[in-house]
Amino acid sequence: MTQLYKEKYRQQFHFSPEEKWMNDPNGMVFFNNEYHLFYQYHPFGTTWGPMHWGHAVSKDLIHWEHLPIALYPDEHGAIFSGSAVVDWNNTSGFFQNGPGLVAIYTSADNYPDSERPRQRQSLAYSTDNGRTWTKYEGNPVLSDVNITDYRDPKVFWHEETNKWVMVLATGQSITIYTSPNLKDWEFASEFGDNAGSHDGVWECPDLFQLPVDGDENIQKWVLFVSIGDNHDFKEGSRTQYFIGDFDGTTFVNENTDETILWMDHGRDNYAGVSWSDILAEDGRRIYIGWMSNWRYANQVPTEDWRSAMTLPRELSLTSSEDGVRLVQKVVPEINSIRKGSQGYQNLTIESNQPTSFNMFSPLMEVNMEFEKQTSNSFGIVLQSSEDEKTVIRYDVEKELISVDRTNAGDNSFSESFPAVQNASLKTKNDRIKLQIFIDASSIEVFANDGKVVFTSLIFPNQPYEKIVLFSNEGNIRVSSLKLTELDSIWGK
Ligand code: FRU
Repeated sequence: MTQLYKEKYRQQFHFSPEEKWMNDPNGMVFFNNEYHLFYQYHPFGTTWGPMHWGHAVSKDLIHWEHLPIALYPDEHGAIFSGSAVVDWNNTSGFFQNGPGLVAIYTSADNYPDSERPRQRQSLAYSTDNGRTWTKYEGNPVLSDVNITDYRDPKVFWHEETNKWVMVLATGQSITIYTSPNLKDWEFASEFGDNAGSHDGVWECPDLFQLPVDGDENIQKWVLFVSIGDNHDFKEGSRTQYFIGDFDGTTFVNENTDETILWMDHGRDNYAGVSWSDILAEDGRRIYIGWMSNWRYANQVPTEDWRSAMTLPRELSLTSSEDGVRLVQKVVPEINSIRKGSQGYQNLTIESNQPTSFNMFSPLMEVNMEFEKQTSNSFGIVLQSSEDEKTVIRYDVEKELISVDRTNAGDNSFSESFPAVQNASLKTKNDRIKLQIFIDASSIEVFANDGKVVFTSLIFPNQPYEKIVLFSNEGNIRVSSLKLTELDSIWGK
């Protein structure tokens, strides 16, 4: 048997469970110096099945310690996605000695004597830093017989109105509820029936506030909505976001209903939400997503385990000529796994004369900056000895960046997998900056400081070993190129 975390395609610096199936991140909360990560987990198989909450903790968001399963299915059904909060003031009455953790999740079963799915919201609480959990005897705390897709509660404390707020996915909309105590919920408003993308069922919302351009005096609210797979659309499942205002009751979208904002332009970032209760002195809004896609998640070619999470990313808002947009940056804690690096400066890549560099490690971070010259398309190829490759290309005229995985490696498991992933991107002072993270079966590309992001699975049969810079019909300057070896987070 292959050693644990040394299996083919096993991600080395991304979170994955030791074995079996994982999907959405759940219940992310920071408490007593630990980041908790729960996740949709099927402990008896490598495909989706009766859902439990798996559990891991971290001090730095990069290195994870696995803990026993936190929540098991019960008389109300399986444990679908949800969130966790610190109940600082014991509003719930669950805690006698100081604050504790409350998980708010979807109990999923069927209506009695029926095949119709039933989804209701339930609570569990922990007085020992999430190590053990007690289900609330009054479960479920929120249900609605008229709505079938009724799930994925994300809860936060709204200071101004002194209430808990829940955003819940309700078919093709998000419904907002409020509560004084996490147990009694009241309808507040509904958003989204006509707004954004309705290419699939709405799932896994999140709602939080961020300053624009770092200015604490200008605050906007961000609403995440993941939309499920639909065979009419090649992209499969993906996540959109809205920007607007929230007064404790109603979310107001500041864009037109027709505006669709995608959070990631790669195929493999789904159901992500942000951490709750990160301390004010830290102040970050940190996000993690499930690095897969419902279109083929159950088929990806890994054997003993399935799926990993994205790298943790700090979210921020920036204003642009098109409006306020989301920016994602890998958290600086990634520095703890950076090893040796090689740097190059002021290279000129001549027209149709590709230049290659040895990757010296299969786990790599690439930082580089292209400076536009006469070229009409340029980019970087990651390539293995077997000639499998992932191509990142910028088209100058179309102002389009793409990540092409059509020949990246094993594609055999799904017709939907080979793909050229595209996004519009303008140069900044004639420059394109790229930060690329390459793990055993994924690549994450952050363009122009995280304004455009691609998260993409790849399954190369041999690790990529060289980087090729190319330029077509004209030259390009590479003002800097830095290759940094990354360490595995497992097995030390
Ligand atoms: C999203 C999702 C959620 C649901 C969970 C079930 O990927 O479909 O809506 O709670 O997965 O595992």
